Amino acid sequence: MKITISAIKADIGSIGGHIKPSARVLETVREFIAEYGSGLLKDFYISYTGDDIAILMTHTLGKENAKIHKLAWDAFKAGTQVAKEQGLYGAGQDLLKDSFSGNVKGMGPAVAELEIEERPNEAFLFFAADKTEPGAYNLPLYLAFTDPMHCAGLLLSSSLGKGFKFTIMDVEYTKGDRVIELNSPEEIYHIAALLRDNNRFVVESIHSRATKDHAASVSTTRLHNIAGKYTGKDDPIMLVRVQKDFPATGEVLSPFTIGHYVAGFMRGSHNGPLMPVKLNSSISYFDGPPVVSCAAFCIHEGKLTEAADAFDHPYWDFVRKNVSRKAYEIRRQGFSGPAMLPYSELEYGGIVEIMKALDKKFVVRAEKKEKRGRK
Ligand code: F6R
Ligand code: MG
Ligand code: MG
Repeated sequence: MKITISAIKADIGSIGGHIKPSARVLETVREFIAEYGSGLLKDFYISYTGDDIAILMTHTLGKENAKIHKLAWDAFKAGTQVAKEQGLYGAGQDLLKDSFSGNVKGMGPAVAELEIEERPNEAFLFFAADKTEPGAYNLPLYLAFTDPMHCAGLLLSSSLGKGFKFTIMDVEYTKGDRVIELNSPEEIYHIAALLRDNNRFVVESIHSRATKDHAASVSTTRLHNIAGKYTGKDDPIMLVRVQKDFPATGEVLSPFTIGHYVAGFMRGSHNGPLMPVKLNSSISYFDGPPVVSCAAFCIHEGKLTEAADAFDHPYWDFVRKNVSRKAYEIRRQGFSGPAMLPYSELEYGGIVEIMKALDKKFVVRAEKKEKRGRK
């Protein structure tokens, strides 16, 4: 059976700063989808990660379907109304356009979709990250799909051993979707050459080379390219199919043990380690650290099981401790060097004014004249 899984997420306001949505806003979004999605959807699941609300929907209408996207957009609009009534901070923050025009891509919300021929026992993972950018998934995806140090299946399963096709997007390019397709294992150095630059090159999707099936889909929005100014980091979501011809759940989770440094954190302008957290976790220290949650599902004829919380396990408590230590260490050096993002990536413009003012005060010292007769 052909099923589409559509995940759409947005920050439409949060309590006490940028830390989590209110129960009433969440409930409004849930009730809206339950009521207006009833003839349209097979199933849905609502969750939050930090200040972002994610709507996960299953249906048979295919990717980029106007009805599905409009449903999510309208649900976020309804939620925004309540967020405004409650005085939530940043109400409607990610809804960057006034009216809906067929597709939420490019309007603010992040979108990840998979259209799949449902396997008899279809398992997939839904990741949602806050206080970071889409390139945060580059390293975990690279490791889970190309490196036997994390994905034993690359050695142990002949299907996985055939490798994967990576579609990578240049998110700096704003005139259209500039993409490249590269195959692992032959081109892993080329894949790595692009993926080291999280801020510019982002994995958009991954396909199995053995079956041609779609394995992973990542939201690739760059909000500041849409809005032309700071609107918060892009807080990416992703869908990954697992097991059999795809990496196992544990293999996809394995790279998150690293807590690698990603861009985001306070004011979207710092580097911080990515912490795997439980579902519906909020944000705290230094508006961070950057977090990622993972809901695991099985799906049958479009009906979802309950979500299994993939990072709710004693092992990840150990990882969270290590990541806290990494966060503490980098924060100790405040604004210095790699703790803060380079000038071009700072999400706030204040420093531009400081630099302009200081520029006028700089002087170039007159060179000392050479003494006559000196050799
Ligand atoms: C980062 C984020 C926060 C805000 C910060 C200041 O993505 O959402 O760190 O940038 O709390 O927020 P404003 O400018 O809204 O006061
Ligand atoms: Mg957010
Ligand atoms: Mg936000």
